Amino acid sequence: MSQNAPYYITTPIYYVNDRPHVGHCYTTLVADAAARLMRCAGRDVFFLTGTDEHAEKVVESAAKNGVTPIEWADRNAAEFERAFALMNFSHDDFIRTTQERHTTVVQALIAKLQASGDVYLGDYVGWYDPSQEEYLTETVAKEHEYKSPVTGRELEKRTEQNYFFKLSAYADRLKAHIDANPGFIKPEARRNEVLGRLGQGLVDVPISRGVKEGDVEWGIFMPGDESHRVYVWIDALINYWSAVQAPDRIKYWPAQTHAIAKDILWFHAVIWPCMLMALGEELPGCVYAHSFWIREGRKMSKSLGNFIDLATINAYIERYGLDALRWYLLTQGPMGTTDSDFVHAKFIEVYNADLANGIGNAASRVANMIAKYFDGAMPEVTAQDAAAQGFGRDWPALTNQAVTDAVEKMGAFDVGGALRCGLELSNEVDRYVHDTQPFRLAKDPDNLPQVAAILTNCAEALVVAANLLHPAMPGTMTNLLSRFGRPSPDTLGGADALSAWGAVQAGTPIEKGEALFPRADGDEEPPGGGCEL
Ligand code: MSP
Repeated sequence: MSQNAPYYITTPIYYVNDRPHVGHCYTTLVADAAARLMRCAGRDVFFLTGTDEHAEKVVESAAKNGVTPIEWADRNAAEFERAFALMNFSHDDFIRTTQERHTTVVQALIAKLQASGDVYLGDYVGWYDPSQEEYLTETVAKEHEYKSPVTGRELEKRTEQNYFFKLSAYADRLKAHIDANPGFIKPEARRNEVLGRLGQGLVDVPISRGVKEGDVEWGIFMPGDESHRVYVWIDALINYWSAVQAPDRIKYWPAQTHAIAKDILWFHAVIWPCMLMALGEELPGCVYAHSFWIREGRKMSKSLGNFIDLATINAYIERYGLDALRWYLLTQGPMGTTDSDFVHAKFIEVYNADLANGIGNAASRVANMIAKYFDGAMPEVTAQDAAAQGFGRDWPALTNQAVTDAVEKMGAFDVGGALRCGLELSNEVDRYVHDTQPFRLAKDPDNLPQVAAILTNCAEALVVAANLLHPAMPGTMTNLLSRFGRPSPDTLGGADALSAWGAVQAGTPIEKGEALFPRADGDEEPPGGGCEL
């Protein structure tokens, strides 16, 4: 693949009925880190996030709050945009399903499916709860002995006309695609889960809801039939397509990765790909479904009131810095099939080990020694002299390998693994300083050329480490790089530039600066008051 090939990455579009919390921020953060690294590696990235606004709940909440649905959606979409700015996300676009660029595309796409016979008008038979005005699934109805779970009133078996998508027609093709593309659904356990359910066959799914008398206007009409609106999930999935319809964006299609969590896997790994097959479109490269953050051992829920909400996120940012929070979430997050626990004590442990005592300490040690022994400017050292002081390490090869590995891992959406390549490199600098003891050597002025070579290796390797850590911690790593006279890696263009040896020029003034990550005290109370459980 050419280095500047398009790379399109998406997050779920979030319901505007909820307030943004750590879960929404996490998926978007993971996508942000991938987008940033890929940009640094020279790829032509398009990173999309946004909000899903046509749910019926929006109408209810708006009414409760005395505003119109669109006012409610505007207010909460703005909250998500603020949260994502606070997290320093680098999305290229924020799509809202109420925007015309989306609604017109949804109608056009469904019209196409109607024309091909993949969407048809049929009868929907279900258990209707008249007291709640909603249909219940057979399982739920049976569980409650065909009575309303809320009021106990008898359920009615009702038949209603509905538009259906011919999902059943694509089961075999989808299965064949999943079999032929092991990376299509990740992690593997999620893939097996989908394959297992596919084995039971697929039934056609309703994709509209009838408009009832007195309904508030909310949702997209089915093409040519204003007595039905498009079901919110179908509307929402199409955002991945509608966002890249502008002529200068079409090149990004199809998405390389849809980053989501396990809760919405079926829609992304089954319904959406089958819709795309029906449309004759290419399928995304990968649907990556991570697991959930829980908090101090408990599921986060409205009833427990223990969400890591924006206020808590803000409190962490104020106390430890945004990048510390980004690092903790990115490296300790639930990318696999088990949930991750957000535990304050663990946060402190990771902060101190990886950041304060890790990259932060390595950078200040090296800068301090250059300041002390070479008057704060990079000494002049030839490549041969630097290589001669490798102490068993071929530094240019090591740093090159770290970049290759990081880009490859990020390509496979191993976000934590990719970022650890940068941390490993900075830990290697620490071990090297430990092995070569430049502070001892410097006591004898005759050794200064040797010390200069060692510190040159350290500075060069730290610059590459910072380039690789930049996607996780853009602000702090830009600061670190500037202390070594280097620009932010997203201005460099290409993986070769990321690993370029000899980037730190002789004579560059090296700034000691403040500690990038001051050590944290593990006994401190969690910021934001923690959670009382
Ligand atoms: N609107 C739909 C998605 C439509 S995509 C075409 C939706 N929205 S949501 O607001 O409920 O967001 C669900 C997503 O938020 C999850 O898939 C995940 O990405 C993120 N998270 C929500 N809670 C989470 C955790 N506790 N932990 C990690 N991520 C979670 O579903």
